Amino acid sequence: MSHRLSLSRAAHLVGVHRSTLQKMIGEGTLATSEGMIATDELLRAFPLAQLEASGAVEWVNRIREESFGRRVRERLLPSQEILAQRLFAQGLELAELRRTVQRYHRLVEETERTLRDAFAGHPQLPRALAAMADGLGRALAGDASDAVAAMDVALHSMTPRVEVRPSGHEYFVEGHDSILQSGLKAGLQLSYGCENGTCGLCRARVVDGEVQRIRPHDFTLSEAERAQGHILMCAYSAVTDLKIETLEAAGPEDIPRQEIVATVRSITPLGEDTRLLHLQAPRSNRLRFLAGQSASLGAATPAGDVQATYPIASCPCDDRNLHFHVGRDEADGFATDVFSGAIRPGERVTLVGPEGRFVLASEPGRPLVFAACDLGFAPVKSLVEYALSADAAPSYTVAWLATRRDGHYLANQCRAWAEALDGFSWLPLAGEDAAAGAAELVAALGATTDLARADVYVAGPEEFVRNAEFEFRAAGVPGESLAMLAL
Ligand code: FES
Repeated sequence: MSHRLSLSRAAHLVGVHRSTLQKMIGEGTLATSEGMIATDELLRAFPLAQLEASGAVEWVNRIREESFGRRVRERLLPSQEILAQRLFAQGLELAELRRTVQRYHRLVEETERTLRDAFAGHPQLPRALAAMADGLGRALAGDASDAVAAMDVALHSMTPRVEVRPSGHEYFVEGHDSILQSGLKAGLQLSYGCENGTCGLCRARVVDGEVQRIRPHDFTLSEAERAQGHILMCAYSAVTDLKIETLEAAGPEDIPRQEIVATVRSITPLGEDTRLLHLQAPRSNRLRFLAGQSASLGAATPAGDVQATYPIASCPCDDRNLHFHVGRDEADGFATDVFSGAIRPGERVTLVGPEGRFVLASEPGRPLVFAACDLGFAPVKSLVEYALSADAAPSYTVAWLATRRDGHYLANQCRAWAEALDGFSWLPLAGEDAAAGAAELVAALGATTDLARADVYVAGPEEFVRNAEFEFRAAGVPGESLAMLAL
């Protein structure tokens, strides 16, 4: 019997991005009804063999056959208490279904008795009863879509779905995560502050579904708020699928300016003239930012205080681990101290921010094109990681012009994206001059991409950005589809 799945649940089950299914729906190769996909339709598009390749079957079997891998245990399985709650909720549903089946069973028996009494001795009766039994047998027989439905039920126990209102965004709660943590990992711009139950900024109203508190919180919700179903998303996990109402940031103006003290976790050479600075924020005081934004970093060294502003190169879905690409620059005291070792692992760095409006503002469904020059790759990387975690676009193109001796210092990262993701392409270009290179880059992009239909994000040295803007406009990209960041 066919079972209906939401688009995100179907994507989760077959191990593809939601945008892949949306593309198939747009191309007419996958049918939906009222936004839902039937399991037999999903099986038609992704036969069981493909489902097995996606890992979903293996994953469910692994859990069933007790060979729990460490990753499954730590990342996907919820705590015992939450799992018990989810199983209890499913047990209630199962008991209700069993009662319904028993009622139908009694109805069939009574119908058969009534027919026997009414048509006793009639020559057609045995044939009519045999046909009825045959029809029932066929209706109750299992088929391949039952296996998909069974996997869906297992996924419900492990990863309940959250629908956020009014945006309609959806995500899954995995492992020991709170409702807030899973939402941030999925790329949602949920409102929050402390992540430890103190500030009350992550308040949400549960419209439908059951939640379970997973940690104590100091912030007190009023009696009236509790009666209306308000919770703190950082302190609760989902027992069943949820519908919640909560605030999401619509743009940089919704993100407050913050000041936090982070620790230098590592400084890694990405080339002769580039360092990856990894800062770690305290568990209880992380930096809330939008992908593509920058932060001001300050440090006190024996030679004096230094300060500089850099784009954040990592995804806001991991707001504790913040990456920056620092280029060698004698005019920049902070960078000089990073290269000389005056700023080293274990040191404290004060972060103030976030700042900047170079953020993803695209309508879902539009192709994204990123054009970076040299260290302009840092904010582009943040945008790409965020867009991928939020499944924000049907296709991604990253063009990166390198004019420094470190070249494409994270080419491996770009190749990994291109190999792992359908609809992702990357275009490395090298040149001596950022301004002249901008024209080449736009021409190369125009040869492979329909620029007029895409949203374009440009970051790099000022001369590159200026020329790229001119070239993109000449190539038919309207001003409202262009976002630029000059470094
Ligand atoms: S984020 Fe501060 S209470 Fe939840």
